[in-house]
Amino acid sequence: MIGQPLWLDGLGHPVAVGDGLLHRVGELVQQWAPSHRYAVITDSTVAPLYAGAVKASFDQAAAVDLFTFPAGERHKTRETWTVLTDELLTTGFGRDSSIVALGGGVVGDLAGFVAATFMRGIPVVQVPTTLVAMVDSAIGGKTAVDVPAGKNLVGAFHLPAGVLVDPQVLATLALREFQAGLAEVLKHGAIADHSYFSEVAGALPGLLSVDHGGGGTLRQIIARSIAIKIRIAGADIGEAGIRKVLNFGHTVGHAVELASGFSLLHGEAISIGMVAEAAAGELAGITEAGTTDAIRSALRAAGLPVELPGGVTGAAVMQAAATDKKRQAGVLEFSLPRRIGEMARVGDGWTVPLSEDVLLEVLR
Ligand code: GLY
Repeated sequence: MIGQPLWLDGLGHPVAVGDGLLHRVGELVQQWAPSHRYAVITDSTVAPLYAGAVKASFDQAAAVDLFTFPAGERHKTRETWTVLTDELLTTGFGRDSSIVALGGGVVGDLAGFVAATFMRGIPVVQVPTTLVAMVDSAIGGKTAVDVPAGKNLVGAFHLPAGVLVDPQVLATLALREFQAGLAEVLKHGAIADHSYFSEVAGALPGLLSVDHGGGGTLRQIIARSIAIKIRIAGADIGEAGIRKVLNFGHTVGHAVELASGFSLLHGEAISIGMVAEAAAGELAGITEAGTTDAIRSALRAAGLPVELPGGVTGAAVMQAAATDKKRQAGVLEFSLPRRIGEMARVGDGWTVPLSEDVLLEVLR
């Protein structure tokens, strides 16, 4: 069913959220990024589910080609970027082309990076198909590939020409992936909006058992999360200041991801990271007492892990964090909530270094 989409502003390009929008991708892409040729880039999981509908949504006269790469984070590489850009070139794509990124975070980041670099930059329209991509990675123009030294270390800021979010496609998303997306949803509430945090927490765990294929509550949650992301990222696209608050839970989370050998999904690692960082913030006297408990119980209700998994020690996480720190040639910085719905401003910045002792204490 196609309903009236919700339109969200603030990034200089349209963002639409609405059930059935997948069937309007062609029409809207042709308006937002009129081109001679369109490349739909997707992965081997999403292609059989939605590529046909997306291709069919273009005018019959439009030249639309499909490019599919193998699904999975391990394919978000310079090698896949090379294959895709070479395929575009040999198929005759030029400057007068646009890309549709159809898929989860890996597809959005990779296809976005292809768009950022192909012919020095062509338009991309993001059509996210996972919850984490809808509320986070498709919004704000970050594109990247992973390299042996770490995740997302080669990339570019390249804002899309538009973002189309159809919550109905979540009907085919695995529950575990849906739960991982809820970590970013709860993060948005924790950093920016107490009442939103309470509403999402109050809708759990029921939200897990309703049909993920759209419906009012889920659509509203997605739209409110996107609005928070737009407000924060839109104020600081290049991440010089306030955008860093979106990294709450990510300093520890990235280290947990690495220490777990990527057996945890990003959202699962971020869930553990948010609890640890809020607890560290409480120990350091930055975060109000009780904040960690509220975050922990909401994440638990979403079925997310809130402690290190068996086999991953605090020391291993600290070691991974140190590797990350060396990679970034800097100190480990943390964006911490003051209380639910409000981030701590420290001096004139949004991050604070924390001692290793405090971190080890909370990771115990
Ligand atoms: N995922 C955090 C950001 O886009 O800034």
